[in-house]
Amino acid sequence: MNLEHAKRKNEHLSLAEKFYDAAHQAHPFDQVRLIPNALPEMATTEFNPQVQINGLTLQWPFYFEAMTGGSEQAKTVNMALARVANKTGIAMATGSLSPMFKLPQFNDSFQVVRNANPTGTIIANLGANVTVKQARQAIDLLQADALEIHLNVAQEAAMAEGDRNFHWRANIQQLVEELPVPVIVKEVGFGMSRATIQQLMSLGVKTINLSGRGGTNFVQIENRRNHVADFSDLTNWGLTTPESLLEAAGLDQVTLLASGGVTGPLDVIKAGVLGAQAVGVAGYFLHRYYQDGEEGLLKAVQTWQTEVTRIMTMLGCRHFSDLSQVDFVLDEQLYNYVQQRHLNH
Ligand SMILES: Cc1cc2nc3c(=O)[nH]c(=O)nc-3n(C[C@H](O)[C@H](O)[C@H](O)COP(=O)(O)O)c2cc1C
Repeated sequence: MNLEHAKRKNEHLSLAEKFYDAAHQAHPFDQVRLIPNALPEMATTEFNPQVQINGLTLQWPFYFEAMTGGSEQAKTVNMALARVANKTGIAMATGSLSPMFKLPQFNDSFQVVRNANPTGTIIANLGANVTVKQARQAIDLLQADALEIHLNVAQEAAMAEGDRNFHWRANIQQLVEELPVPVIVKEVGFGMSRATIQQLMSLGVKTINLSGRGGTNFVQIENRRNHVADFSDLTNWGLTTPESLLEAAGLDQVTLLASGGVTGPLDVIKAGVLGAQAVGVAGYFLHRYYQDGEEGLLKAVQTWQTEVTRIMTMLGCRHFSDLSQVDFVLDEQLYNYVQQRHLNH
């Protein structure tokens, strides 16, 4: 890893923004409709936005999902995200801290996140092949409240310089056993099957972020960066976020988080109805920042907080976890998926 790595981080930011419209043409959450409650017996003041997730407290059920760090440009973005997180009380995950092991000159691009938000909930992020010692260093650098371990096979496969060895299971098990903070295992936008979720559970993982297709698309991004081969046939690889949540139906020994293609408060609520205990948002809020600046991002997050509260009240749900009681219907295509996969929703 060298300065090429910082360049890659900058390219991820600029290509996520460049492909924002293309990546969001389909909106899989539209395949889910909620059944309204015309008699909710609730006032907006009765909504309690706090969620507890296996030792981690979030003040709101949606948060800034992992994006960046490891370059000057990343530092500017992280600073803005952290200031907005601090003002609104939402949690924030940073991008992978792997640069700190080879490019410590950019450690401040991560440290700004804690400095701007001294008491907020901050989640560190690393790949699945790091050692326990490295994970502890990353947690210490951020004084992180939790660690996300990302699974990104499709992304690495589409990268000219990507990893080709994906023997991760034993290491994940060791990280979960030995780290002092809660560990969340997440995808990066390709979703997870029931078999993967069960496999992670058998390794001792208690919290899983399914991060499905429908938003930021790392095959598209890496394919643009790859000047050696064309992997564009993999652009639609993976499961959408609603499909991934439905894959997990009935698995009650695990806490599910969702991300991938969440572009509005109603998506947050729908993810909750399908079983998510909290929802990460990356590409949409990055887009808001690039389009409208830090002030615009702040306003967007505040608007989401207001609307999430209103929708929760419309549904008569005082806690985010109450959403599992809300009825829903699926469109034909998603219902077909559920039937072919023999899922009980
Ligand atoms: C610019 C950018 C960089 C990202 N870097 C990371 C990363 O370092 N680690 C990680 O786990 N996920 C990373 N992600 C993936 C997101 O955390 C998320 O799983 C994915 O983008 C799907 O959510 P979205 O559709 O809301 O963007 C990144 C996303 C973006 C937009």
